Amino acid sequence: LTAHEAVYFIFGATGDLARRKLFPALYSLYREGKLGERFAVVGVARRPRTETQFRDDLHQSIQEFCRYKPGEAGEWTAFAEHFSYHSLDIGNVDGFRELKSLTERLETRFDIPGNRLFYLALAPELFGTVSHNLRDGGMLESPGWHRLVIEKPFGYDYPSAEKLNEEICRVFREDEVFRIDHYLGKEMVQNIQMIRFANAFFEPLWNNKHIANVQITLSETVGVEERGAYYNKSGALRDMVQNHMLQMLTMIAMEPPSRLDPEDVRDEKVKVLRSVRKFASPDEVRKNIVRGQYSKGTVRDKELKGYREEDSVDPESVTETFFAARVFVDNFRWAGVPFYVRTGKRLPVKSTEIVVEFKNVPGNVLFARRQDLLPNLLVIRVNPMEGIYIKINAKRPGNETTIQPVAMEFCQSCQIGINTPEAYERLIYDAVHGDHTYFTRWDELAAAWQLIDPIAAAWREHAIEPALYPAGSWGPAQTEKLLHEDGFHWWPVN
Ligand code: BG6
Repeated sequence: LTAHEAVYFIFGATGDLARRKLFPALYSLYREGKLGERFAVVGVARRPRTETQFRDDLHQSIQEFCRYKPGEAGEWTAFAEHFSYHSLDIGNVDGFRELKSLTERLETRFDIPGNRLFYLALAPELFGTVSHNLRDGGMLESPGWHRLVIEKPFGYDYPSAEKLNEEICRVFREDEVFRIDHYLGKEMVQNIQMIRFANAFFEPLWNNKHIANVQITLSETVGVEERGAYYNKSGALRDMVQNHMLQMLTMIAMEPPSRLDPEDVRDEKVKVLRSVRKFASPDEVRKNIVRGQYSKGTVRDKELKGYREEDSVDPESVTETFFAARVFVDNFRWAGVPFYVRTGKRLPVKSTEIVVEFKNVPGNVLFARRQDLLPNLLVIRVNPMEGIYIKINAKRPGNETTIQPVAMEFCQSCQIGINTPEAYERLIYDAVHGDHTYFTRWDELAAAWQLIDPIAAAWREHAIEPALYPAGSWGPAQTEKLLHEDGFHWWPVN
């Protein structure tokens, strides 16, 4: 494989994403031999920075955030040698021409065949400008491949996403574009396919005859932190639901693809999104969706601010920091099965879990009216613990015939010596190898926005404001009601 012989351009190289995720990911890939030696990384940002300063930043970021620590001096220098910095005003094409000469020198020096990967860790408003200037500055004229990796938010709604996409598509083909959703890079999200399609005992039961409901929780303990300005415009709906939550839902609900090829997998995911029932009226939105915002609260004797008191947040903000919904996938497999999703900031735990609740055995004479008979569960633990467990019913040891639920567990994060790669490592690696499986295709993104827009419109046009919940709680009381109405409850998250 020679695909990884490339120059990686990190636009926004002095920003948070580069520091926390991208540099550490590149270092881990390097340490595992996945980058080889024929590569170069060019950090691009507006701020002037000397090569030495840039490499110092790099060292610090790896020291702080990488699962490998910078090794002994020789090895570190060898890695850092591959890094250069180029200060650039991205609105000015001349800088791109200079970047072109720098790139050609690096390609000669490291014997790289002209492959170029442009990672835009930038505000999306700049994607169009950068794409055009890459082309006009001659950066796309090398003999190898050219790929664009971009981060969310991809627009604010369907029309803005479409506009953004058109701008990018004037320069890059769809197969050259890699839209990151870092949840798709998570080990256990990718594992959903294996669990479902490689096991004789799940797939035959994976439908409305045997599954009572599915619960997807993505809870965070952090508040909005220093991202108030961004978050206040986006809210949980655009920050988490439009992307991460819907991605997990599609992975659970999709039909088995005919092959595990990227396009086959993505075709199936688009079909799920198209089958999700739209919230057609404000009443449906009110009935099926909970919109919440954290107010002040106390967690372990610590006073936490309410959302409206956070920095850069409008004191009258009606932005939601919590979202819960009852969603239906109207196809043959899932008709009638509710998918409950919830996500929020300032909740009691940091945890992402997917619970598949199976229907009970027939209420026959054997176990009729038994209070101790709980449903079987399959729980996929995504984050921060990784693993899977199933809850089954067994006999409690002793003379009485009491049933007790027991867990059969595979705890991936407990296995000694498993140091699972970070989402960004896997995604950068895939992008460089041209594998689109875990990236969002345009039609997938479009379908996701088409589900989100009517919700946002109903909130906006019918003044549906968020219900307050104290920081450190599980969201507004209505969240429990959603499930109680259907005779279910949220299974506790670990
Ligand atoms: C990001 C959101 O996409 O995902 C953040 O913008 C959120 O608001 C983060 O905190 C959660 O990711 P993870 O991997 O920490 O669960």
